[in-house]
Amino acid sequence: MASVPSLASTVHQRLADALTAALPDAASADPLLRRSDRADFQANGILALAKKSKANPRELATQVVEKLVSGELLADVEVSGPGFLNITVSDRAITETLAARYADADRLGVAPKDTPGTTVIDYAQPNVAKEMHVGHLRSAVIGDALRGMLEFTGERTIGRHHIGDWGTQFGMLIQYLIEHPGELAPAEEVDGEQAMSNLNRVYKASRAVFDSDEAFKERARKRVVALQAGDEETLKLWQQFVDESKIYFYSVFNKLDMAVRDDEIVGESAYNHLMPETARLLEESGVAVRSDGALVVFFDEIRGKDDQPVPLIVQKADGGFGYAASDLSAIRDRVLDLKATNLLYVVDVRQSLHFKMVFETARRAGWLTDEVTAHNMGYGTVLGADGKPFKTREGETVKLEDLLDEATQRAAEVVREKARDLTEDEIQERAAQVGIGAVKYADLSTSPSRDYKFDLDQMVSLHGDTSVYLQYAYARIQSILRKAGETRPTAHPELELAPAERALGLHLDAFGETVFEATAEYAPHKVAAYLYQLASLLTKFYDQCPVLKADGPAQVENRLFLCDLTARTLHQGMALLGIRTPERL
Ligand code: ARG
Repeated sequence: MASVPSLASTVHQRLADALTAALPDAASADPLLRRSDRADFQANGILALAKKSKANPRELATQVVEKLVSGELLADVEVSGPGFLNITVSDRAITETLAARYADADRLGVAPKDTPGTTVIDYAQPNVAKEMHVGHLRSAVIGDALRGMLEFTGERTIGRHHIGDWGTQFGMLIQYLIEHPGELAPAEEVDGEQAMSNLNRVYKASRAVFDSDEAFKERARKRVVALQAGDEETLKLWQQFVDESKIYFYSVFNKLDMAVRDDEIVGESAYNHLMPETARLLEESGVAVRSDGALVVFFDEIRGKDDQPVPLIVQKADGGFGYAASDLSAIRDRVLDLKATNLLYVVDVRQSLHFKMVFETARRAGWLTDEVTAHNMGYGTVLGADGKPFKTREGETVKLEDLLDEATQRAAEVVREKARDLTEDEIQERAAQVGIGAVKYADLSTSPSRDYKFDLDQMVSLHGDTSVYLQYAYARIQSILRKAGETRPTAHPELELAPAERALGLHLDAFGETVFEATAEYAPHKVAAYLYQLASLLTKFYDQCPVLKADGPAQVENRLFLCDLTARTLHQGMALLGIRTPERL
C-alpha cells in the first residue's frame, strides 16, 4: 500500500528545510501553514523566527523564497507583509498527487499510523427489559462512527456494550415471572418487536404489583438475594430476560444498519466476579474508606449542595455493589486483560460526573496509569421541534423503532419523487439507506457535546447539510461515469486546471489529514463537515467545468478522474460514519 504525502505536508517540509538552510543557527524552524483564499497555502511564523534569530523578516522571507521555487511542486511563492508567504502549488503537483491517491483504491493513499494503540470503546449500551430511547441512539451512532474512524487510522479497537443487565429490579421481574409463568414467550419464538412488547408488559405489570403489594415486595427482595447468590433457577430466568432483550436490541441495531457482535455485549453483570476484589483493593490501599457502613471514595474538588463532598459509592452499607463498582471493575479488565491504551466511553454527558469520579479513583488505585487515556465522550440531548427533550405528544419517550421507520418512510417519499428508473423494491432499499443515513448524519454533523433537534423534514432534505445531499452527489457521479461509457477516468498531469478543479483537488488531498485530526479529537462532526464541503466543491466544479463535454478527450478523462476520486472519497468518508452510498438515487 503506497502512502501518499499530502501537498500540505510536502509544502510544509519544503518550507522547513528552506528555513533551516537560511537560518543554520535556529534551533527549530517549524513554519505554520494553513489553507488560504489568497493562494493555496499561507505560511506564517517567519516573523517570529526572524526575531528570535535577530534577522530581518523580509530579507529572510525573500531568501526562503529563492530556495523554495525550484522544481515542479510550486507555481508561485509571494512574500506578503512582514514575513508572510503566499504559496501556490502547481497544477501538475495537484494532479500527480491525486493520481497517486487514485491508484490506492482501498485507502486513497492514506497510511495508517505507525504505532497504533488499543482503544476499548464503550458504546451502544441499552438496558435489559427496557425500551431503547434516543439517548441510546446517539451512543450507538457516535460510537460506531468513532470506531470506524479509529480503525481507519490503524488503531486496534475492542467494543464493549456495557448493557444494564444487573440490579435490584431483576428481583421484581424474575419473581413476577415465577408467579406468572408463560408471560414471556421463549426467545426462539419472538421477533424484536414482540420481545420488547412482552418485556414492556412484564415490566409494567411487575412494577404495579411491586408498588402495591408489600408481600410481593418482600418476595422480590429475597429474589435479589437468590440472584446474587447464584441460585440456578433464578439465574435461568434472569438469562431469559437478557436473551429476549438481545433479540430486541439486535432488531434495532439491524435497522440502524450497524454491526454488533455478541462477544462484545459485555454487560454490568459480567464484572460481578471482580467486584469484591475491586472493593477490597480500594479499601486496603486507602483509596476508599468506610462511611456509615458504605465503602466510598471522596474527592476534594467534587462538592455538591452546601459544599458537602459528593462521594463515589463503591459498596453500599448492605453489602451490595452498584454501577460504580462495575465500572471500576471493567476498567481493571480493560486495562489489565484487554491491554487497552485508551478507554473511550460514549455516554450521555449527564453521566460525566460519574466518569470523572470513576477515572480519578482508578488513577489513585494505579489501574489507570499515565500510559492509558480515559475519556467520556459525553453527548448532549436530542430535542424535539419545541426545543425540549424529545418526547411523543403524550409525553412518553419515543420508540426508537417507530422513529427509524418514520425516517425511512419520509426518505421513500423523497426517493420516489426523484426516481425515474427504479422499481418499488429498489425504492424501498434506497429509502432505508437514505432514511437511516439521514438520522445518523443529523446526529454526527453537530458537535457531540451539543444538543440537537430531531427534525425529520430537515434531515431528509435535498438541500443543505444533509446526508441525502452527499448521497446525491455520489449517485450523480456514478451516473456520469455510466454515461461516459468506454471513456475511462484518467489523470492528465500535463493539463492546466480551472480554479474550481484546483479547489476540489486540494480538498480531496486533505481527506487523510482531516480524518486523523478528527479522530484524535474524537470529533466525527469534523469528518461530516469535510464531506459536506467536498460535495459543495463538487457542485461548484459541475457548474463551472463541463465533464463529458469538456475540451478534448484528455480533459474529459481528467475530469472523469476528478469525479471518480471525489466519489471514492465520499464513499470512504461516509463509510467511516456508517452511512451508505447507493449507486443510483
Ligand atoms: N446502560 C447505561 C444507560 O443506559 C449506559 C452504560 C454506559 N457505560 C458504562 N460503562 N457505564 O444509561
